[in-house]
Amino acid sequence: MFRGIFFVLSVLFSFSPSTYAICVVKPSPRGTDSAPAIIDAFRRCGHNEGSSRGKVVFENETYIIQTVMNTTGLRNVDIDLKGTLLWDNSNITYWLNNSLPVGYQNQSSAWLFGGESVNWEGHGYGTLNGDGQVWYDFANGTNNYPGRPHQITITSTRDSAFENIRFLQSQMWTMAIIHSENILLENIYVNSTDTEHTVGFDFSSLNTDGADTMYANNITFRGWTIDNGDDSISMKANSTNILIENCNFYTGLGVAIGSIGQYENVFERIENVTARNITINNMRYGAYVKTWTGVSTGFPPNGGGGGLGYASNMTFSDFRLNNASGIFAITQCTSYNDATGDCDTSLFNIRNLKIENWTGNGTSDVVASLQCSGDSPCTGIEIEGVSILDTVNDTMPANWLCDSVVDPIGFNCTGAPWGENSQ
Ligand SMILES: *[C@@H]1O[C@H](CO)[C@@H](O)[C@H](O)[C@H]1NC(C)=O
Ligand SMILES: *[C@@H]1O[C@H](CO)[C@@H](O)[C@H](O)[C@H]1NC(C)=O
Ligand SMILES: *[C@@H]1O[C@H](CO)[C@@H](O)[C@H](O)[C@H]1NC(C)=O
Ligand SMILES: *[C@@H]1O[C@H](CO)[C@@H](O)[C@H](O)[C@H]1NC(C)=O
Ligand SMILES: *[C@@H]1O[C@H](CO)[C@@H](O)[C@H](O)[C@H]1NC(C)=O
Ligand SMILES: *[C@@H]1O[C@H](CO)[C@@H](O)[C@H](O)[C@H]1NC(C)=O
Ligand SMILES: *[C@@H]1O[C@H](CO)[C@@H](O)[C@H](O)[C@H]1NC(C)=O
Ligand SMILES: *[C@@H]1O[C@H](CO)[C@@H](O)[C@H](O)[C@H]1NC(C)=O
Ligand SMILES: *[C@@H]1O[C@H](CO)[C@@H](O)[C@H](O)[C@H]1NC(C)=O
Ligand SMILES: *[C@@H]1O[C@H](CO)[C@@H](O)[C@H](O)[C@H]1NC(C)=O
Ligand SMILES: *[C@@H]1O[C@H](CO)[C@@H](O)[C@H](O)[C@H]1NC(C)=O
Ligand SMILES: *[C@@H]1O[C@H](CO)[C@@H](O)[C@H](O)[C@H]1NC(C)=O
Repeated sequence: MFRGIFFVLSVLFSFSPSTYAICVVKPSPRGTDSAPAIIDAFRRCGHNEGSSRGKVVFENETYIIQTVMNTTGLRNVDIDLKGTLLWDNSNITYWLNNSLPVGYQNQSSAWLFGGESVNWEGHGYGTLNGDGQVWYDFANGTNNYPGRPHQITITSTRDSAFENIRFLQSQMWTMAIIHSENILLENIYVNSTDTEHTVGFDFSSLNTDGADTMYANNITFRGWTIDNGDDSISMKANSTNILIENCNFYTGLGVAIGSIGQYENVFERIENVTARNITINNMRYGAYVKTWTGVSTGFPPNGGGGGLGYASNMTFSDFRLNNASGIFAITQCTSYNDATGDCDTSLFNIRNLKIENWTGNGTSDVVASLQCSGDSPCTGIEIEGVSILDTVNDTMPANWLCDSVVDPIGFNCTGAPWGENSQ
């Protein structure tokens, strides 16, 4: 018996790291750039083979970041974030000229980060602060300002976890997760609030998405709080097996599928997305789906269209809405700089989507506005158990507005969408 236990223990030990390189990052003095020291720490401790692991430690200090960082291709590393990384945006020209390409929609980033077996612990107080007000003022409502950087891009990453981290005042999107799989992101706090302009869904902290996935498989978002002015979490090109659960979202647009179908004749898909146990506070929607039209005009990020593919097997269950201005929508009318028309031209197909058990209140008397494309109608759309008080009329919303929805399940369409919804 004893021998058995000793044998098991020794096997376990032989699997534990044989070496453990630790790099403690020191903040650069007198408010100068800490980026070189951070890059150097990842270079020295972030690439570990076989059974060895490394660790990069940020102390309870403020690290000023004045230049772009590219710390990709990491392997077997733990990140212990006890302090704050604070971006310095005093030289906007620098960031516009130097932010790094993300590899989608001509978007760019302040930090490309990624690797295999990377475990990032933020203890609930480790913070990335993008000092985004500078950008919200600078962009002044311009959608997708070219060169405006995302805070961090998790790229070519697999078998990794990000936990208990805070992201404040992102310059643009908080994070993109791209060319990545098997990632857990748990207990994450995101707050990008424009304090200079009033919250309005056309403007405030525009393009500050909480997270976007592209070419991403098996990603779990659990226990997120997001307060922002745009998509809470958005699934874009080739996002598969995505789970979003136990989250609280504030002032943004909702859980988004898309926009997608932006690249002419390119086939992209979204498959198997579940969002459940989500609380929505003062938002535009609980969830919504948006595709570009079938007509290609201009170039990404603000132009495009004519993409192919499908979004299928999406489930949105157990949502609680508190003062939502809309409930659920599909639009296939997204086009260049608010161009209108062509809503029936997209060949990107939306199918097998289920809404179930949504409760709460809002200011909408429309349960769902479903503007599907006549050239590729929606099928398998199911809406059950939506009970959301319209506090304007003190009634339960009774409108299900449909265009090109085949055989709706759990509801009857009451009419056509009231207006074209280009976003
Ligand atoms: C970090 O340091 C500050 C003082 O510099 C202190 O007030 C704070 O409690 C520390 N935080 C943690 C989590 O240790
Ligand atoms: C980032 O660094 C990797 C090497 O790790 C390199 O292959 C890649 O081209 C760099 N990306 C950019 C945008 O500089
Ligand atoms: C800002 O960055 C640019 C490079 O993009 C550089 O030419 C310029 O000197 C910088 N300005 C200041 C004040 O550092
Ligand atoms: C911001 O845009 C508004 C119009 O949308 C304009 O009136 C205002 O002057 C702009 N502010 C700056 C600083 O450019
Ligand atoms: C999905 O990713 C998680 C890590 O978040 C991992 O534990 C799990 O094994 C992955 N599932 C598959 C089917 O690879
Ligand atoms: C986000 O930050 C704003 C401004 O600091 C604050 O008023 C708001 O309560 C915060 N939201 C959450 C969900 O913590
Ligand atoms: C769908 O995604 C969920 C959550 O990520 C996962 O548990 C499940 O295995 C996936 N289903 C298939 C058929 O891959
Ligand atoms: C729902 O999410 C909340 C966090 O917003 C969590 O406290 C609660 O345990 C979750 N409920 C279930 C049934 O998982
Ligand atoms: C996206 O997924 C489609 C369908 O699975 C595939 O044909 C295409 O190559 C993928 N695109 C990229 C860039 O991985
Ligand atoms: C479809 O979604 C359901 C609910 O998330 C999941 O259990 C199932 O595995 C998915 N099927 C496929 C084929 O993705
Ligand atoms: C409906 O969702 C609520 C959370 O909003 C949850 O507490 C409840 O258990 C769900 N009901 C069913 C039947 O799943
Ligand atoms: C809407 O629902 C929330 C959460 O349940 C509640 O706090 C709020 O008082 C409700 N508002 C109205 C006007 O009923």
